[in-house]
Amino acid sequence: MQIILYIHILSATAWIGGSLLLFALGILLRDRCAQKQTYEHLGPIYGYFETFWLLSLWASGTYLYLYHGFNDVFRFSYNSDLSHMMHDKIYMVILLTLFTFIHLYIAFKTHTCSRTKLQHLLSRGSSLAIFVLNLIVLWYAIGVRSAL
Ligand code: HEM
Repeated sequence: MQIILYIHILSATAWIGGSLLLFALGILLRDRCAQKQTYEHLGPIYGYFETFWLLSLWASGTYLYLYHGFNDVFRFSYNSDLSHMMHDKIYMVILLTLFTFIHLYIAFKTHTCSRTKLQHLLSRGSSLAIFVLNLIVLWYAIGVRSAL
């Protein structure tokens, strides 16, 4: 079990670290041309990198969920803090995963070509939502671990 927890935490650091870096680049890299070139080269690599770690989070998280018997926690102790925290965490990870699909879909569809206003809005919006949700999920993850 320890190795799975290790993989889960490693995946969380890679996944959140990657999203923080790209978010910082979006704000700090002001030069339009440099920004365009960076995203053109880094974009697809980043997309595959993040997808890999998100899948790893789901796989290792599901293992840990079953290992700790969360099905029974939900069934017999639905009103406990542990149950609420896990419930909220999973709900937010589902949202986060949906936003990631939207973001990746637009990114790969419009790679090296211009975006419509809607695509631009959805891409920026999903990116911001992923950033905020990541911080909240991390908070809940620590809460779950402390309550176990
Ligand atoms: C973006 C997605 C996720 C992130 C960033 C994340 C992050 C983390 C982190 C950092 C921990 C360790 C907390 C600590 O040691 O204080 C943790 C624990 C845990 N996570 Fe996740 N997680 C994610 C997705 C999931 C999913 C999808 C599940 C279940 C389906 C899950 C189930 C668990 C469980 C059961 C633990 C406690 C494991 C233990 O203490 O043995 N996680 N998570």
